[in-house]
Amino acid sequence: MARTLRDLPADLAGRRALVRVDYNVPLEAGEVADATRVEASLPTLRWLLRRGARPVLLSHLGRPGGRPHPAFSLAPVGPVLAGLLGVDVDFAAPCDGESALRASRELVAGRILLLENTRFLPGEAANDRALAERLARLGDFFVNDAFGTLHRAHASTTGVPGQLHPSAAGLLVERELKALGALADPPRPFAVAFGGAKIGDKIDLMRRFLERADCLLVGGAMANTFLRARGVDTGASLVEETALDLARSILSEAEGKIRLPVDVTVTSRAGDPGAKVEEVPVDAIEPGMAAVDIGPASRARYAKSLRSCASFFWNGPMGLFEDPRFAAGTFALAEAAAEITAAGAFTVIGGGDSAAAVRRAGLIGGVSHVCTGGGAALEYLGSGRLPGLDALSNRERNMP
Ligand code: 3PG
Repeated sequence: MARTLRDLPADLAGRRALVRVDYNVPLEAGEVADATRVEASLPTLRWLLRRGARPVLLSHLGRPGGRPHPAFSLAPVGPVLAGLLGVDVDFAAPCDGESALRASRELVAGRILLLENTRFLPGEAANDRALAERLARLGDFFVNDAFGTLHRAHASTTGVPGQLHPSAAGLLVERELKALGALADPPRPFAVAFGGAKIGDKIDLMRRFLERADCLLVGGAMANTFLRARGVDTGASLVEETALDLARSILSEAEGKIRLPVDVTVTSRAGDPGAKVEEVPVDAIEPGMAAVDIGPASRARYAKSLRSCASFFWNGPMGLFEDPRFAAGTFALAEAAAEITAAGAFTVIGGGDSAAAVRRAGLIGGVSHVCTGGGAALEYLGSGRLPGLDALSNRERNMP
């Protein structure tokens, strides 16, 4: 385990704590639509404020592609954080400029400085050393509490701790790793559900679960890709064409463990409330129709598979659950997860979308642990390592 807050020097009064948080939150009409990730950062921020440290926060939001884009500004997060924490939150943009440096130096004790989206700069995703050096000047020590981003080797996650010492993992990171540790040697049978839309990111990770899991339930756009790989005509469904070969090889390696939908909910236009919606067997998807949820027979089969399991990890919704017409598959899996938890199974929901879906189903208290980072959790469970965590363990140095 990397160093933690408790390994930092006892006297932090007046020191600037450069904290990498994961405020990659959903925004709707410019407002934070789900503040779970902001709430999850509060214990570390309170811990630092109690010791007189002055927190300067770095985060990304969305994938703006290395240039400023108002739709991905972190500015709307400031008031939400201020409301939850009961302290004033200053904001500075860009995150690496002279104005940010000045704001960090002038930050009044008891307040927080939130900086603009790190992904507005091309050097962030490229893990540019010069950017990491500029960011490192914003703090006197570094804390990484962005659990959901630990699988990214970016300037603000792995670059900064190479430049700024000491560095430590925050309380959220500690809590998440503890919960995921319980799945290192999971109670069996162990089921894993994959869904959502970040197929390219996840399908490769899925391979690592072929041996470790006893059963893999596949939904969302991930399922469309597998169905197409199996030769099913998926109509206008979202499919990751570049992943088809990988999907075929996964199927040939572990066909017996993988459950794919046998029926789906399809629509002619996902965003259109008046569009045609029907439930059809997977071999009856008409041209122009797109699968947007798993169908009733699939829901029943997935729930049945889950009922025999002693542990479960779930990443990615089964459909476009934000639209109530396409939420039944995701909600049915959430109900099955809560049912096995009540019967003694250990269940972990990983990722913002899956957690939001379970919350919307009213079952968030019914699972063992809700993890704030799906991709990071998959990477950690699959390989036992995370670049952002490794970067915190690399160097031992004291605060100047
Ligand atoms: C997430 O939402 O999984 C994290 O914030 C990482 O975001 P990313 O997949 O865009 O890197």
